[in-house]
Amino acid sequence: MLAPFRRESDRAPFLDFVAQRPLHLEIGFGRPHHLCDLAAQHPDARVLGFEIRRRWVRAADRRAAREGLDNLRAVEGDARPYIEQLVAPSSVEAVYILFPDPWWKKRHHKRRVFQPAFIETLGERLVPGGMLIVKTDVEAYADLIVEQFLELEGWELAGTSHADPTIAALPRSHREKKCIELGIPTYSFRFVREAR
Ligand SMILES: C[S@@+](CC[C@H](N)C(=O)[O-])C[C@H]1O[C@@H](n2cnc3c(N)ncnc32)[C@H](O)[C@@H]1O
Repeated sequence: MLAPFRRESDRAPFLDFVAQRPLHLEIGFGRPHHLCDLAAQHPDARVLGFEIRRRWVRAADRRAAREGLDNLRAVEGDARPYIEQLVAPSSVEAVYILFPDPWWKKRHHKRRVFQPAFIETLGERLVPGGMLIVKTDVEAYADLIVEQFLELEGWELAGTSHADPTIAALPRSHREKKCIELGIPTYSFRFVREAR
C-alpha cells in the first residue's frame, strides 16, 4: 500500500481521517487557496488534497497549522493510485478538479487526471448524489470533458458556470482568481453521481 505518511505510526491516524464523513477530495490543488478556504468553510468536513509538487503540499500544511485547520490533510503524490488504494467506495461527498493541466500532446495523455478510467474510479468513490466539480480556462478541454461525461453512465450534468448556486458558493482557486483578474473566461461544471 502507498504511504502518504513518513512514519508507520502515522498510518492509523491517517486512515481514521479518511474514514470520517463527510469527506471532500481535491486533486492537483497547486497553490492551496481553494483547498484551505474549503476546509475553513466546512469545519465539520474532512478535506483531503493531493498534489504532486512538494512546495504546494508544504504551503497547505503551513497554512493549515497557522489557521488551525485540523480538518485538512495534504498528500504529496499522484492522486490516482492514492485514491484507488486509500479511499473507500461510496465514501466521498465531493471531488474538485480545478484547472487541470490539459496535456495536449498524445504521448502525454497518460498524465491527464481527466481520463475515463479515473473518472470511473471517482464515480465509485462518491456517495450517491455526490458531486464532481471541474473547472478549466481551456475551452477545448471543457468540450472534451463534457464529451467524455456524455459517454459515461451514472452521471448527471447538474450545473454549469457561476449561474449554478453550488458552484457560485465555492471558494476560488489560485488559477481562477488569476483568470478573473486577467479577464480570462472560465468553464465550470458540476457533475452529480446518480444513485446506483
Ligand atoms: C494548472 S495547475 C492548477 C492548480 C490549482 N488547482 C488551481 O486551480 O490554481 C494543476 C496542478 O495539478 C497538479 N497535478 C497534476 N497531475 C497531478 C496528479 N496526478 N496528482 C496530483 N496533482 C497533480 C500539478 O502539480 C499542478 O499543481
